[in-house]
This record gives sequence, C-alpha cells and structure tokens, in this order.
Amino acid sequence: MAKFVERVFSGVQPTGNLHLGNYLGAIAKFVELQKIHDCIYCVVDLHAITLPQKPDELRASIREVTAAFIACGIDPKKHIVFNQSQVGEHAELAWVFNCVARLGWLNRMTQFKEKAGKDRENASVGLYAYPCLMAADILAYRATHVPVGEDQKQHLELARDVAQKFNLDFAASIAAHGHGEAFFPLPEPLIQGQATRVMSLRDGSKKMSKSDPSDYSRINLSDDADTIAQKVRKAKTDPEALPSAIEGFKQRPEAENLAGIFAALNGETKEDVLKTFGGGNFSTFKSALVDLAVAKLGPIGAEMKRLKDDPAFIDGVLVEGAGRARAIATKNMAMVKDILGFVR
Ligand code: TYM
Repeated sequence: MAKFVERVFSGVQPTGNLHLGNYLGAIAKFVELQKIHDCIYCVVDLHAITLPQKPDELRASIREVTAAFIACGIDPKKHIVFNQSQVGEHAELAWVFNCVARLGWLNRMTQFKEKAGKDRENASVGLYAYPCLMAADILAYRATHVPVGEDQKQHLELARDVAQKFNLDFAASIAAHGHGEAFFPLPEPLIQGQATRVMSLRDGSKKMSKSDPSDYSRINLSDDADTIAQKVRKAKTDPEALPSAIEGFKQRPEAENLAGIFAALNGETKEDVLKTFGGGNFSTFKSALVDLAVAKLGPIGAEMKRLKDDPAFIDGVLVEGAGRARAIATKNMAMVKDILGFVR
C-alpha cells in the first residue's frame, strides 16, 4: 500500500437540530483532531437533499451547522470548513463510485432501509446511492481518517470497499500513471470514546436523532440553560439507584446512556462516573449532569446565536473553505480521470 499523507475528513448533514449525539459522537472529536492533523470538515448539503428539504430551511441549516463547527472550537483558518455543493468534484467522483460499487453492497445498507421505511419504491435514487457520495466526500481528498459516530460504521466500510475495488480494478493504470500500488487510501473510521452512540432521553433503545418528533428526546446545541435542565430532569430513568459497577448497567439502557453522556462531557470514563455517583439516586446525579451540561453546552449555544446574526461572516468562511477544498479535489479528480482513461 502506498504511503498516504494523513488527513482527516468528516461531514455533518444540515438537516436541523444539531444535538448532543452529533456533538459527542462527532464534532467534539473534530475539535480534538485538529491539534494533530490537517482536517477538512464539510457541511454535506448534497446528502441533505436525499430527503425532501425546504430551500429556506436548508440554507439556514447550512449556516447553523457551520456556526456550530466554529462555536465548538473548529478553526476555519487553520483547517478547511465548507459546504459540499460548492465543490463539484464530490458529485463527479460519486458518479464514478456509482459505477464501482455493486448493487449487492448497497442493498445491505441498514440506514437506507431505516430511512426509506416501508415505502421503499418511493425513496429517491439519491437516498439509495448516498453511501457512494459519502465515499466520494472522503476520497476526493484521499483522506485517511474519518471521525464519526457508531451509526456511520457501515457506510465507512463501504467507502473502504469502494477504495479497494477501484485500486484493484484499475491497478495497471494506477501503476502506469505513477501512483504505485494504490491510488486511494482505505479510510480508517475513528469511532472512539464514551459516547459513540448517544441514545434518546425518552427511550434508551433508540438513538438520539434529529428526526425524533419529541424535542425532549434530545438536547439541541442551541438549547438554553433552562431547556437543557428541563430535558435532563425529564429524561427517562428507572426506579433503582445508580449501579456501583459497569455490569450493573445490564438491562438499564437509560441509566447507562446518562452515565455515558456525563463521562463524555467530563472527559472521564463511565467507571469514573460510577465511582462518584454509584449507589446514589438519580436526582442527585441529574442535578450534577444539568450543571455539567449547562457549563459545557451553554457557551456553544450562545456563540451559535451570535454567529447566526452574522450570515455574511459564515458565508465568507464557506466560500474561502470551498476554494481551498476545491484546490485539493480538482487535482485528485484529474488524476482519477487519467486513471479511468478519460480525455481531458
Ligand atoms: P449525520 O449528519 O447524521 O451526523 C453527523 C455525525 O454525528 C454522529 N451522530 C451521533 N453520534 C453519536 N450518537 C448519536 N446519537 C449520533 N447521531 C449522529 C454521526 O455518526 C456523524 O458522525 N452520512 C453522515 C454525514 C456524512 C459523512 C460523510 C460523515 C456525509 N459524508 C463523509 C463522514 C465522512 C451523516 O448522515 O451524519
């Protein structure tokens, strides 16, 4: 395998209600990774339209995700922040990957099945081909590391399969064009930490999600202190005390979820949380969780609000980031075209 420069890529959909799951599972990791890597963070608006979106809401949402990135601590001067539709190579490479990926691979994607629901015949072709676009997002930059939550694992595996099949199918041409054994790296998923799958506050068996009709199921990054407090206090628990050891979380998904959230927000493990709160009742623990969540998320929400009033600044960040992203993607796409045998 050729040696690839280490580069981080990840994306977030602008589909409203960024929540604690997005933050702990993804954006907080994005912030950490910028200390040691070159990073590209993308607001994936092309992915958003695989389901119906209202144009005005989509526009606001693209700006909101960008504002959240910055408010959480991503530095758009040092790293690249942009929205996907401004860099045409994503869609272009996705088409190439539509021709590399196999129907059988896409048929196995659980997220398509969940999102398409019972009326599969009526789902968009884009929703079905979504994982090929996601592979293109990453591989347009030949990115090597991809921080995501647990729910994206299968999509990342498909991206690796696409990269590998491209490398094999075009091995001779790749070598002839001076790229050695492989043109694309096999991107590595970074799914780490205490909160790779944050669950709904109303039902510990369901993932915390933007699309849950109950706003009480999630803490939004834009929630104010009172709302956060209310949601934590109303979060579903069980009548038992908190367990003293991790094994005590068996059959208690709500308790485990809240402990995981606390641990991730406080930069510790669930074991540490139980050392402090094990054996105690939920009301004491929830009060501490409210204080912690408000301390960590309050400033993010406030900064998002401030940035919301400055769309010109946000749009400037996106245009500038898109220019830098395009410079990388255009070069890679030209090499892909040569490898494929296109005339340019
Ligand atoms: P999206 O927009 O649904 O979610 C953005 C990120 O948040 C993570 N996440 C969670 N993590 C923990 N617990 C949860 N309850 C939770 N809910 C969401 C997701 O895993 C994700 O990391 N397909 C992607 C976007 C995408 C992408 C990419 C990601 C498009 N192209 C290329 C990486 C690389 C998505 O829909 O994420």
